[in-house]
Amino acid sequence: MSIAISVHNLTKRYGDITAVDNISFEVKQGEIFGFLGPNGAGKTTTIRILTCIIKPDEGKATIMGHDIEKEPLQAKQIMGIVPEMSNAYIDLSAWNNLMLIGELYGVPKKQRAERAKRLLEKFGLYDRRNQLVRDFSKGMKQRLILCMALINEPTILFLDEPTSGLDVESAKIIREMIVELNNTGTTVFLTTHNMEEANKLCHRIAIINHGKIAAIDTPEKLRVKSSGLQSIEASFDYLVNMDDLAKIPCIKQVEKMGDKIKFYTSDTNEALNRIMDYARSHGLKIITLNTLAPSLEEVFLKLTQIKNGV
Ligand SMILES: Nc1ncnc2c1ncn2[C@@H]1O[C@H](COP(=O)(O)OP(=O)(O)OP(=O)(O)O)[C@@H](O)[C@H]1O
Ligand SMILES: [Mg+2]
Repeated sequence: MSIAISVHNLTKRYGDITAVDNISFEVKQGEIFGFLGPNGAGKTTTIRILTCIIKPDEGKATIMGHDIEKEPLQAKQIMGIVPEMSNAYIDLSAWNNLMLIGELYGVPKKQRAERAKRLLEKFGLYDRRNQLVRDFSKGMKQRLILCMALINEPTILFLDEPTSGLDVESAKIIREMIVELNNTGTTVFLTTHNMEEANKLCHRIAIINHGKIAAIDTPEKLRVKSSGLQSIEASFDYLVNMDDLAKIPCIKQVEKMGDKIKFYTSDTNEALNRIMDYARSHGLKIITLNTLAPSLEEVFLKLTQIKNGV
């Protein structure tokens, strides 16, 4: 599989702040690559560098082999961008926004109109094409921005928190479109701080924190690799004393979650035996008992807390 995005030792500073701190990674062609991190982690700065909006202080990156500093025009031609802040002109209609951006990308007039019609229909906006964007809802605006990002039929699509602030239905439409585009060969670079979104959509995820990459892997492997985070979820037929449960050897932490109790451990096997011993010796019946790999959210919190020195 060929490499779509290649990043080597990229660094960007703003005064005393190192927004992106010597990061390196590769995105393969055909992947949905998630860039996951808390606020201020450096996600937008990385996207802005890769989409040739700002220049890095150090390092090098290529988009389908095109160096972003030496060949920015070639690199830009093959990318679509859904930026963090809307790039649609609110005083233009949806249609005119698409015509304008199509022209900027050098898409011939006839193709521009054909593609705009097809995209607007696909995203359920064709009937509203002549309305000013100012009167669009947030969800409609975001769908239009995705249409705008696709007018040049990009090989690589960059999306900076595309579903942030959208309702469930609008977010779902955007996610489905991302998967559909990926199924037809588009490489996707997606930033998000929504763990669930990253887990559902991405083939691989980089976790970024304070400008540094804390881990890169598939969501599944990130979960498995993160040792000491296995947990057991149990429910009993009777109320149990949480303080007593916390004293069970090899249990690191207990948490009550509705009618279930979650036990954190680094030795699942031993913990299971101990929990069963406890139930037996206290005359409790175990209703459910499940071992769980850590959620992506737990992995994320662990990795970002380490970097924060917590
Ligand atoms: N133009 C700028 N001038 C000064 N500092 C900046 C600028 N852009 C970003 N920063 C700083 O760089 C760091 C990374 O910001 P960035 O916008 O890349 O984070 P992010 O991961 O996208 O966060 P969010 O989830 O809030 O969008 C932050 O500390 C931010 O304040
Ligand atoms: Mg951002």
